[in-house]
Amino acid sequence: DVELTLRPRSLDEYIGQYKVKQKLDIFIKAAKGRNEPLDHVLLYGPPGLGKTTLANIISNEMGVNIRITSGPAIERPGDLAAILTNLSENDVLFIDEIHRLNRSVEEVLYPAMEDYALDIIIGKGPSARSIRLDLSKFTLIGATTRAGLLTSPLRDRFGVMCRLELYDVESLKKIVIRSASILGVKIDQEGSEEIAKRSRGTPRIANRLLKRVRDYAEVVEDGDITKEVADKALKLLEVDPLGLDNIDKKLILTIINNFEGGPVGLDTLAASTGEERTTIEDVYEPYLLQLGFLNRTPRGRVVTKRCYDYFGIECKGD
Ligand code: ADE
Repeated sequence: DVELTLRPRSLDEYIGQYKVKQKLDIFIKAAKGRNEPLDHVLLYGPPGLGKTTLANIISNEMGVNIRITSGPAIERPGDLAAILTNLSENDVLFIDEIHRLNRSVEEVLYPAMEDYALDIIIGKGPSARSIRLDLSKFTLIGATTRAGLLTSPLRDRFGVMCRLELYDVESLKKIVIRSASILGVKIDQEGSEEIAKRSRGTPRIANRLLKRVRDYAEVVEDGDITKEVADKALKLLEVDPLGLDNIDKKLILTIINNFEGGPVGLDTLAASTGEERTTIEDVYEPYLLQLGFLNRTPRGRVVTKRCYDYFGIECKGD
């Protein structure tokens, strides 16, 4: 599966996220040196930045197995108990969208994380009692878009917190070049930069665009990707020069047209665009902030002059 081979398998191969890599490298070496499991890790940040990839890398570097699941997939406490009792010593359990665990399941996780134990209630009513079952030591890796979405008892039980940030164009360019080489497609510096610029700071998008540009290059051109080929392909795909999509544009134009460029509060913006507040905050805003198109102020969101210029709209008071 090409999708899987595009994913780096070691920290060395993993491009960008320098601070996260540096921390994990040290903590992994320390845990291995002591022959202990790595402490529980929370990975948070916008979607598509490689949280699952990092979890796989951690298990690889630790030399242990990984079990992958997600918050919504674990419906009942028994489901989680079954997973936990099947882990081997020092294994990694990866729970994606961990903020979506329901409360009763989350409560099973507390003693499991803290004491590697499972508290089981036997019987009902006055004769009910609880027995404690020991589990193998393990590492929980949780992933979520924002650390603030977790309850504090859960958040407090993670020993390592890593915030993933949107990638800069330079790192994305390296990822595109690496992926192109794995896919066996010829690409030059300008071609990879063009794809990188339109990928919203997100490797998942960069790899997707690369594959579509490759399709275009193979069918319409001679198979090689240059800036000109990338540009033509991405125009055909209606990918904006900065990778902005219709929702980005709706958010920006709503602030400009309905709120005179802001400041406007997040809830007001959500109500007038019909988008969820958390989606705006976790998915759309990070890229608009990275581009310098939006500012957060105490009174709300404000569109910048740079953004007015990009959309070709005159900025009042300018
Ligand atoms: N593919 C997706 N994310 C990557 C990363 N951070 N480094 C290298 N290749 C990747």
